[in-house]
Amino acid sequence: MPESRATWSPTSWHDRPVVQQPDWPDAGALEQSLKHIASMPPLVFAGEARSLQTELAHVAAGNAFLLQAGDCAESFEEFSADNIREKLRVILQMAVVLTYSVGVPIVKVGRIAGQFAKPRSSPTEMVGELELPSFRGHIVNDANPSEAARIPNPDRLVQAYHQSASTLNLLRAFTKGGFADLSRVHAWTQEFVASSPEGERYEQVAAEIERALTFMRACGIDTESNPNLSQVDVFTSHEALILGYEEALTRQDSLTGGWFDCSAHMLWIGERTRDLDGAHVEFLRGVGNPIGCKIGPTTNAEFVLELCEVLNPSRIPGRLTLITRMGADKIEDGLRPLLRAVADAGHPVVWACDPMHGNTYATANGRKTRHFDDVVAEIGGFVRAHRAERTWPGGIHVELTGENVTECLGGGDDLVDTDLDDRYETVCDPRLNARQSVDLAFRVAELLRDFT
Ligand code: PEP
Ligand code: CO
Repeated sequence: MPESRATWSPTSWHDRPVVQQPDWPDAGALEQSLKHIASMPPLVFAGEARSLQTELAHVAAGNAFLLQAGDCAESFEEFSADNIREKLRVILQMAVVLTYSVGVPIVKVGRIAGQFAKPRSSPTEMVGELELPSFRGHIVNDANPSEAARIPNPDRLVQAYHQSASTLNLLRAFTKGGFADLSRVHAWTQEFVASSPEGERYEQVAAEIERALTFMRACGIDTESNPNLSQVDVFTSHEALILGYEEALTRQDSLTGGWFDCSAHMLWIGERTRDLDGAHVEFLRGVGNPIGCKIGPTTNAEFVLELCEVLNPSRIPGRLTLITRMGADKIEDGLRPLLRAVADAGHPVVWACDPMHGNTYATANGRKTRHFDDVVAEIGGFVRAHRAERTWPGGIHVELTGENVTECLGGGDDLVDTDLDDRYETVCDPRLNARQSVDLAFRVAELLRDFT
């Protein structure tokens, strides 16, 4: 372990090897943007991050389930109230189906209000015949296929901050202002079931939820006036990739003196930046937020144990979420030794399944996609591994949108290759559309039914 691990500060990551950072062409302009962000109000508060950690502690203990969902990459262009509302609507619908079927509270965390930066496998990419610097997310550059568009522009850091603030503002309004009312959310789900080719399969669960609501009404419980049934907490999260931006929003909590990254409630470390001695692990180990780390197919038990020790040495329940993304064919066998090792070591982690990133492939005409069946299959393997090891399959981490895009194949509407051209709109990875997402919630509900 490097000696300097003893002393953490918001800048201690500067002394570590750092990957996946943009080559900002103008150091002065970058410094100005970061200074500006550092002078702005925090986006979230330490107390909120602590509340999320408490909820995640319930997940770690097997008494709650995590639903983390949203865009692969948020877009500066597709930024509208409708877009945010529709995404939230899908997350709430999924949460109701899961709450009812799994029988535990669902902790809702969006990949939203800050999910702008993308790690890339290669610094350049081919667009047709043209080799261009890779698109790194709207917080860095533009996706248009020209050299000029791909130059990292630090003004984008400031724009990302402002878009995050507006998004959060709307999320807070929607989740507290009647939009999340349970009866209303269920009514959407009934519409979905009625119009879904797979509807029959889901009818029983939908009818049971309806009966539960009717029963509550008969008992005089009115969802609209009961905050427990009409208001929800939706927390925010993103991959903490651009460390200068994260540092600029890292603030000392006046209550406890601890440091919190106030760009989001939860931050995670990606598959490409989880080097134990690297800058990303160094930065996140010191912030008080709940944090996640992606765990890909090349990990082993030894690495995961070290990661737990570095990121959560005090073994605080809810502090650390391990997000597996191994691929449908690898998850069951790959995960079991990790579950065993972490359980034997007594680390209180949340295990969440990202069934998207290990199942991405390109179609014949070069579009990146994922098949709904592989997504379900990976969650199936994840659940089976937990059942075998007697651990809790704590949650799912998915890429979705509330729009009826055509980016992933399969689902109740059985999208096929040729449908992808209709509405392929993602700025990065393919997302489940609204209907595929609710489909998925019902399928996960089936997989988890006999767990509780
Ligand atoms: C992502 O979550 O969009 C992502 C890039 O994931 P990973 O780090 O697991 O590849
Ligand atoms: Co992605």
